[in-house]
Amino acid sequence: MNAENNCIVIFGASGDLTHRKLIPALYNLYKIGRLTENFSVLGVARSDLNDESFRDKMRNALIKHEKASGEKLDKFCSHLYYQSVNTSDAQDYGKLVPRLDELHDQYQTCGNTLYYLSTPPSLYGVIPECLAAHGLNTEEFGWKRIIVEKPFGYDLKTAHELDIQTHRFFEEHQIYRIDHYLGKETVQNLLVLRFSNGLFEPLWNRNFIDYVEITGAESIGVEERGGYYDGSGAMRDMFQNHLLQVLAMVAMEPPAIINADSMRDEVAKVLHCLHPLSEEDIQNNLVLGQYTEAQIDGEYVKSYLQEKGVPEDSNTETFMALRCKIDNWRWADVPFYVRTGKRLPARVTEVVIHFKVTPHPVFSQNAPENKLIIRIQPDEGISMRFGLKKPGAGFEAKEVSMDFRYSDLSGASSLLTAYERLLLDAMKGDATLFARTDAVHACWKFVQPILNYKENRGRVYEYEAGTWGPKEADKLIAKSGRVWRRPS
Ligand code: BG6
Repeated sequence: MNAENNCIVIFGASGDLTHRKLIPALYNLYKIGRLTENFSVLGVARSDLNDESFRDKMRNALIKHEKASGEKLDKFCSHLYYQSVNTSDAQDYGKLVPRLDELHDQYQTCGNTLYYLSTPPSLYGVIPECLAAHGLNTEEFGWKRIIVEKPFGYDLKTAHELDIQTHRFFEEHQIYRIDHYLGKETVQNLLVLRFSNGLFEPLWNRNFIDYVEITGAESIGVEERGGYYDGSGAMRDMFQNHLLQVLAMVAMEPPAIINADSMRDEVAKVLHCLHPLSEEDIQNNLVLGQYTEAQIDGEYVKSYLQEKGVPEDSNTETFMALRCKIDNWRWADVPFYVRTGKRLPARVTEVVIHFKVTPHPVFSQNAPENKLIIRIQPDEGISMRFGLKKPGAGFEAKEVSMDFRYSDLSGASSLLTAYERLLLDAMKGDATLFARTDAVHACWKFVQPILNYKENRGRVYEYEAGTWGPKEADKLIAKSGRVWRRPS
């Protein structure tokens, strides 16, 4: 299904996300015919640009990031417009009214409007109120939807306040909270793998699964985002949102049908079942780390404290590892080991399901553990590891693997990227892959004790850039005789 006719209003149009992700995603959707000719994009920011200069900027970004050229590029750019607005001044939003009326008329978009907040989070509460001051939130003529980028709040309290503020002007069905991990094809595939195979689902519980490992590793550092990252850390940047969403996909119950309500009911339910962390749990089950300088492949790599925008005494974590549990019938007592970090040896996101060993050893030597490795990125795919007989005399077992690569599927090359998929869904009114308020709230509630611990300058261990985090993270998992996988 294609997008409905609509006007997309991007707040923060002169920012990085707009030219690196949003405009390229819209351009690609246009190129493959998923947007009709009846769409327009109105960039909004404080910067003093006009339609022409905004088009030029976006055209250059598309040439740079998407190698765009030719007639399609020209036609796409002709759908772009710009309006400069002082986004903290409610009165100034009045300028949007005639602009939008004009664009709706010109493109016959029946008043359908998608607002994308690609601004600093401090404006998330302000923009809905200012739009409402001019009636730009009402659905009298066409739908009005608002996409909010993470972070949805800074902690439990601010998330709650933001919610109240947004809900004063937009109803929940109009709010699309974007978590780009949910737009990844392989994250969605977790559901298909689990719920369309008689093979896996019967084993997917505490009776057969020993533990689950979730890794979101990045080899890059904080790059130019030191200022933002220092107020965030791995906990707010990756764990509270992306990794908990992945965990929910691994652990949720099957929805009766796939639609926004039933899917998101199950996601919220499982997140509500995360075992609350006491102070003692945090002491025993959490490891925070910060990278130090190193030579990697002959190149000098700065420490976190040397990064631009990072205070020299910062205690912010660039790595975290946590052992957590889910209090429900399916998962009682099954540990979930989750880790994420910057400046680790590889960029890899994966889920590993470790199955229990056989109840009684028949052969002299232990058979290899059975595991299912679900690779979310890169080299998307699934690998099943199990034991088979080593050829030759005796009954020695060795680990073998059955591998599937996503790229082998026909059609894999034309997959939509996360932003393409999510933008298209928002334009179609499908909120299935967007975070609902109760799920976001459950994530913050779970994470809040860790934020309190950080606030009180909880212990952050050093690790050398290019390694798998502090050795304390290895000790954490070793307490139960296990080891982290070292993916490459
Ligand atoms: C973003 C974080 O949300 O996700 C970044 O702010 C992180 O710090 C990025 O690098 C990771 O996304 P991906 O899709 O590259 O795994």
